[in-house]
Amino acid sequence: MSTSEQGVIAVAGGTGGLGRHIVEELVEDCKYKVVVLSRTPNPSLTALGVDVRPIDYTSHTSIVKALENVHTLISCIAAGGDALADVQIKLLRAAEAAGVKRFAPSEWASDTQINTNIEGYFPKKAVIEELQKSKLEWTLFMNGVFMNYLASPRGTGHLQPLKFVIDTENRTANIPGTGNEPVVMTTVQDVAKFVVGSLSLPSWPEKSGIIGDLTTYNHVVKAAERITGEKFKVEYRSLEQLNKAIHPDAQSIMENFYTQVCIAIAEGAKGGFVFEGTLNKLLPHIKTVSVDEFLAHWWTPSGIGKSK
Ligand SMILES: NC(=O)c1ccc[n+]([C@@H]2O[C@H](COP(=O)([O-])OP(=O)(O)OC[C@H]3O[C@@H](n4cnc5c(N)ncnc54)[C@H](OP(=O)(O)O)[C@@H]3O)[C@@H](O)[C@H]2O)c1
Repeated sequence: MSTSEQGVIAVAGGTGGLGRHIVEELVEDCKYKVVVLSRTPNPSLTALGVDVRPIDYTSHTSIVKALENVHTLISCIAAGGDALADVQIKLLRAAEAAGVKRFAPSEWASDTQINTNIEGYFPKKAVIEELQKSKLEWTLFMNGVFMNYLASPRGTGHLQPLKFVIDTENRTANIPGTGNEPVVMTTVQDVAKFVVGSLSLPSWPEKSGIIGDLTTYNHVVKAAERITGEKFKVEYRSLEQLNKAIHPDAQSIMENFYTQVCIAIAEGAKGGFVFEGTLNKLLPHIKTVSVDEFLAHWWTPSGIGKSK
């Protein structure tokens, strides 16, 4: 299929953290007409030339109308709990009705088909089950942990700042497992490049693994210590300790979310945060930022990001 036939790309949740990076990369790439589906107007995206189409997830007709002429729909929605499945399944039904060809659901982390224990990802699995029954072509983008969190709070781009495992600013680390388990980390900017690159692939693989850097948390700490010139206060939480930290009576599936992600990381390959770099192989011209490069950019005392 030619690029002109794939001309209209819609990003649901394109106003958010990851979505906005993908939208900006699409705008810079200039090959496609860019549509954002949003529940509210977004003048800053409109000013970039993006067609921001209003969407009411309670109305099938409204979603079908918003998807008019769209070839590929990329979901970057991050609704809490069951709403994540609910709105995406509505999007999927409307996409089928509107004649959309390709759909990428909101995955963007681990291989949710391998990992069965992160409750916050259960709604993502429900969407995959519906996709498997549909006639749409689909792919699951997986990128591991966003590397940008290593530069929280300043280097997270449009993402909400988050100090996850490593708090580079305060030189501390709370590492799941032994710290030697492999984990994929990718900058959100590199994810956006791969997503845009994948649009011109003649067919989509079911799993679109993106590897910015295949690393370990022990490596990250060593690199951060070398680059900042300061020793980190490092603590480890064993799988046993992490499992004990799970609240059995959690009020919401998000209450145990970060602990369950840490368990998945501590489980290594079984946890799903390591996977094949399918898109790295299919799009070898895209060069990724490594953990060492990223940390040096943000935390070298005299560097662009400056350490303090
Ligand atoms: N791998 C990682 O380290 C990592 C980290 C963070 C997130 N993620 C994943 O990346 C994806 C995007 O996350 P994000 O942090 O970029 O998201 P976000 O900025 O929090 O939200 C993205 C968009 O979701 C839409 N949204 C929120 N609640 C909604 C609802 N109830 N119904 C419909 N739309 C709703 C909003 O769009 P409108 O208001 O414009 O409609 C919002 O802009 C998610 O799948 C998330 O799990 C991965």
